Amino acid sequence: MIKYVGVNDRITKLFEGQFIIPEGISYNSYVILDDKVVVMDSVDVKFADEWLANLESALEGRDVDYLVIDHMEPDHSASLDKFVLKYPNATLVGNNKTFNMLKLFFPELQYKSLVVNDGDTLELGHDKLQFVMTPMVHWPEVMMTYLENEKVLFSADAFGKFGALDFDDPEGWACEARRYYFGIVGKFGAFVQKALQKLSTLDIKAIYPLHGPVLDDDLSYYLGLYDTWSKYEPEKKGTVIFSASVYGHTHKACEELFDRLEGTKELMDLLDEDIYECVESAFEYSKIVISSITYNSGIFPKVEEFINLLLERGYKNRTIAIIENGSWGPMARKQIVSKFENVEVTILDEKVTLKSALNAESLKEIEILADKLNSIE
Ligand code: FEO
Repeated sequence: MIKYVGVNDRITKLFEGQFIIPEGISYNSYVILDDKVVVMDSVDVKFADEWLANLESALEGRDVDYLVIDHMEPDHSASLDKFVLKYPNATLVGNNKTFNMLKLFFPELQYKSLVVNDGDTLELGHDKLQFVMTPMVHWPEVMMTYLENEKVLFSADAFGKFGALDFDDPEGWACEARRYYFGIVGKFGAFVQKALQKLSTLDIKAIYPLHGPVLDDDLSYYLGLYDTWSKYEPEKKGTVIFSASVYGHTHKACEELFDRLEGTKELMDLLDEDIYECVESAFEYSKIVISSITYNSGIFPKVEEFINLLLERGYKNRTIAIIENGSWGPMARKQIVSKFENVEVTILDEKVTLKSALNAESLKEIEILADKLNSIE
């Protein structure tokens, strides 16, 4: 039997110091009650007492035999010292890298340990755990744990999403899972691909991530999205325009282009929206339009930050168009093009250059760019 003992975090404003979480986030932890009792991961230190109380209630008087550490990032590991104090008979289970990190985070902590390697199993009585090393999804020590008879995969950060478990997300799973993926794991697509290959050998009926809900319906949907995301392939054929305008003229140009685009399209304001929503959308679409005024002879700071976030996450396989503005010396396009040098993207030659406000010439350029974007997928 598996019982939930995790917690909802509705206190933290910025997850990992940078991701807004208006609907909170969950730190999931489970207890498996078999002949042996196993706890799966711990929670953020702010919720240690709540987690230990949940655990005590779920145990109904039993002791803990093992605590499996699938991930050492402190949102899942920071309560381990309190756990060890309360359950000194429990053995912590992890790989070599897990215990190296545990020493770094808890230099004085004494505990019983069991080191496991890829494919190792742990008998629980009726069921059995199998350990699957999945490094860099999202830290080097990350592993996933498969409960064989139940066919449950404890997937660490993979397949997680923002949003507390008491929030019924009207957008469904994918939107906040995508923002989570590209914000946090996006850089490590090649490792996610390796992990997916390993998982393909397992018969999985349900996925239990460390954040967000249990996934137990059509798993091919979630696995398929992770495959697309980690291959850096677009999910949608269409265009998203990123507006970044100080006095409205560049935004007006973005609107004029938007009105001329056919098919799936979106217009997002980089200066107004959560930048990680913009990052998520840039990965979602096949074509993006980046707009920027010229600022200190370069790219507008928020636009440059956005481009850097894409590049850090291995952005590629997309078509990029640029709208620039520069009243006396437009330089943004040149600088944006140089940012994408040696990156596997296609930057359209059709350029749009405003010198302050739209005029007949720049409107013509917008029409030509719209025709080009409409002619490609
Ligand atoms: Fe949810 Fe990488 O920690």
